[in-house]
Amino acid sequence: MIIGIPKEIKNNENRVALTPAGAQELVKRGHTVYVQHTAGDGSGFPDHLYEEAGAKILPTIEETYRIAEMIMKVKEPIEPEYDLVREDQLLFTYFHFASHEPLTNAMIKSKSVCLAYETVEKPGGGLPLLVPMSEVAGRMATQKGANYLEKPLGGKGILMGGVPGTLPAKVLILGGGIVGTQAAWMAAGMKADVTILDVSLPRMRYLSDVMPANVKTRMSNEYNIRELIKTADLIIGAVLIPGAKAPHLITRDMLKEMQPGTVLVDVAVDQGGCIETCKPTTHQDPTFTIDGVLHYCVANMPGAVPYTSTIGLTNATLPYAIQLADKGWKKASKENVELATGLNVIKGDVVYKAVADAFDLPFTAVEKHLVN
Ligand SMILES: NC(=O)c1ccc[n+]([C@@H]2O[C@H](COP(=O)([O-])OP(=O)(O)OC[C@H]3O[C@@H](n4cnc5c(N)ncnc54)[C@H](O)[C@@H]3O)[C@@H](O)[C@H]2O)c1
Repeated sequence: MIIGIPKEIKNNENRVALTPAGAQELVKRGHTVYVQHTAGDGSGFPDHLYEEAGAKILPTIEETYRIAEMIMKVKEPIEPEYDLVREDQLLFTYFHFASHEPLTNAMIKSKSVCLAYETVEKPGGGLPLLVPMSEVAGRMATQKGANYLEKPLGGKGILMGGVPGTLPAKVLILGGGIVGTQAAWMAAGMKADVTILDVSLPRMRYLSDVMPANVKTRMSNEYNIRELIKTADLIIGAVLIPGAKAPHLITRDMLKEMQPGTVLVDVAVDQGGCIETCKPTTHQDPTFTIDGVLHYCVANMPGAVPYTSTIGLTNATLPYAIQLADKGWKKASKENVELATGLNVIKGDVVYKAVADAFDLPFTAVEKHLVN
């Protein structure tokens, strides 16, 4: 198969969909990999590393789209790319269609095949191509929070682990899923005093089995939250209710009960945030302060660490990309239900129910396209 890797053109997106190591794996299997000139630069992979791995470099995005049977990307195509997408071309990338009507309509019109990272789903549940970015964001939440606790940056002026003879910082984590767990590991490693709140008892049992002694779990309810925020130094929002907006566990009035210089990192901001006063910010201007409480609410945290994010993401996507390249999307999706759940739009038909529902579009069962 001919695979094309365009350079991401979305503002501030430095990740790339394939590493030189990934290119080598595909080339070894007899596929041809074209990488757009400088596509890997932002992640620390210059053209020559791809060439040494057996890929070919193309000068422009137009040529990359023109030649490829499968386009692998990180972000959804943005407007200047809409007309580059060709009929029958397979696009394997994050799309997040349900929140973007013009993109959905453009991909329907293109008659391409859109397989979305975010809906590739394990048979027992679990979204394997979202996990790596949650891992990055979780670890980064603690790193950022620790930094903003410094006085000159607006925090209380407390060191995460303290020093002998002082108390460590109190870190409160709302939600003990992927993000919350990774944030807790980092905070625990820095010797902070960590509490994770969740509503799932099985999850809290698991966490209390695997976490070190400086991590405790508590049931997530308003009573406990109101008690814990009074003394917390860093609060990390990491709640997810699949398919729904995040609940506002910390409301506007609760800020008054926090100490000045408390730091809030709401990782769940991309789903509306679990802290009422959070609104999306950018890496250029990441924080704002309300009632003396510092808010960090960057919606694409992994974008700041493209080297780690690119490798973490491609470690997860490559096994699927290999199946798609070896067998073609139809055979690969018939043989692997995880890929079938990733299919969102096929040759003008919306085959993912939530996307059809979001925009009142006709829904076509994916099976219709998988017969023969
Ligand atoms: N800002 C970013 O750059 C970025 C990056 C990656 C992920 N995220 C977001 O981070 C959030 C968390 O993702 P995840 O992968 O950890 O999800 P997850 O499904 O692994 O974990 C969510 C956890 O929240 C818990 N939960 C649900 N309701 C709760 C409540 N009322 N109180 C406490 N806990 C509750 C669940 O039991 C679960 O353990 C998502 O909104 C995700 O989109 C943001």
